[in-house]
Amino acid sequence: MRTQLFINGQWADPVRKGTFPVVNPATETVIHHAPAGTAEDIDAAVKAARAAFDDGPWPRMKGAERAKYLRAMAKAIRSRQDELARLEVADNGKPLPEASWDIGDAAGCFDYYAGLAEALDQQPEEAIALPDDRFTSKAVREPLGVAGAIVPWNYPLLMASWKVAPALAAGCTMVLKPSELTPLTALELGAIAQQVELPPGVLNIVTGTGPDAGAPLSSHPSVDKLAFTGSVPTGSKIMAAAARDIKKVSLELGGKSPFIVFDDADVAQAVEWIMFGIFWNQGQVCSATSRVLVQDGLYDKLLERLVQEARRIKIGNGLDDGTLLGPLVSKGQFDKVLSAVSQAQEEGATVATGGRAAGGFAAGYFMEPTVLVDVPLDSAAWNEEIFGPVVCVRRFSDEGEAVRLANDSIFGLGAAVMSTDSERAERVAAALRAGIVWINCSQPTFTEAPWGGYKQSGIGRELGHWGLDNYLETKQITRYVSDAPWGWYIK
Ligand code: NAI
Ligand code: MG
Repeated sequence: MRTQLFINGQWADPVRKGTFPVVNPATETVIHHAPAGTAEDIDAAVKAARAAFDDGPWPRMKGAERAKYLRAMAKAIRSRQDELARLEVADNGKPLPEASWDIGDAAGCFDYYAGLAEALDQQPEEAIALPDDRFTSKAVREPLGVAGAIVPWNYPLLMASWKVAPALAAGCTMVLKPSELTPLTALELGAIAQQVELPPGVLNIVTGTGPDAGAPLSSHPSVDKLAFTGSVPTGSKIMAAAARDIKKVSLELGGKSPFIVFDDADVAQAVEWIMFGIFWNQGQVCSATSRVLVQDGLYDKLLERLVQEARRIKIGNGLDDGTLLGPLVSKGQFDKVLSAVSQAQEEGATVATGGRAAGGFAAGYFMEPTVLVDVPLDSAAWNEEIFGPVVCVRRFSDEGEAVRLANDSIFGLGAAVMSTDSERAERVAAALRAGIVWINCSQPTFTEAPWGGYKQSGIGRELGHWGLDNYLETKQITRYVSDAPWGWYIK
């Protein structure tokens, strides 16, 4: 486990020599002391990224050249898949098969953007038809500059990769600030950058808290673009900081994603996808299926089956065989989720199952899979992101009501609809105000497809070619080709 920051291609102690504890949420033990970066370290990292962008080879290379580095990074991640997955489990708590999936996806993300970096060479410019034949014009895409990435703890290496891979593919340089709750795998990305001999300063990694390291990164005048994933209040602060210098921003924020189940759906399949939507990663997922709307005819049957299956989920240390639900990431998150459930009860909700700390553990932030019913529409539980294994289930009678309830949210990240009537499913998908709509499933995420939210769920899209656009500027180059003088002032 790394004890230093990765700045300008080298490992360095934080200027103030501070550390912060890294806690394993399954055991509550301190497993490491990570380097606590502060404004001085952020400044050094931004200067390195600035120099690498302004004077270094990276933005000037062919995309195909950069692709070689990205593919090498993918390969290096894959070659350490099990080790990195175990580090993720120790840091975040998630079950090992999930962590292993994440690491595989992170490697896949580097490979995918390597392909898009190569494709940049194939379409370097777009000719623009002008109504005036004295001019020709073309548009070219260029790397945007120095990007700052601030990422959360729910998918530590994967969320970092969603930003690092497209930024590097585009030719940007980057300063990455991982969450202080899960700094371990992001620091390993520094070792991987070193191993593949990424030019110094192209990728810099500074661990530290939000206020001490995140805030100075978001307000640093030499940063051109900020990419953030996390909570709405922090997203709002980052956008405010960006506003001062008109930095470009992309924000992937919270959600309260609805799942509409019509009464022609298969109960077992519906329950499976609801569970995958709310219990995977302990429900700490921005697009988690946190509001389930079930049509009258299926409601009782579905609720009964959901409660029955939720009670069967094996809770435990993510490293134990067969664990399907690990601990929540931190004491803070554990307390927050449990208090959200108590508050829901005070507001009139009924706990159909769960709602408590899971019994039988001497330590660890383990919580029972929780199903809430009778959740008032104006309650916090129905409207706010809980970010834990807690699903609200409610009945509806017709399609119009389902769509109205689903869209009645300040968020618009994910949404899902399940029905055997494919016309109805398409109609509902079109009516849902969300950036991601799943039909007959919920949560499967593909690097090729755009990811991001409507409304307060964010700004911009990650993944796919949309993800690359976050790190590109568009330049027009217009040429005067006429032999005749312009003749306005000088006749
Ligand atoms: P957060 O949004 O505060 O943290 C995300 C990242 O932002 C971390 O790297 C953090 O260090 C950084 N950060 C915090 N304050 C900052 C500031 N002032 N300037 C710049 N960077 C800053 O989320 P946190 O505290 O980890 O969790 C709080 C709640 O946010 C969770 O309970 C959950 O509801 C929500 N959340 C949502 C996520 C999502 O993907 N939608 C991911 C993580 C948390
Ligand atoms: Mg931890």
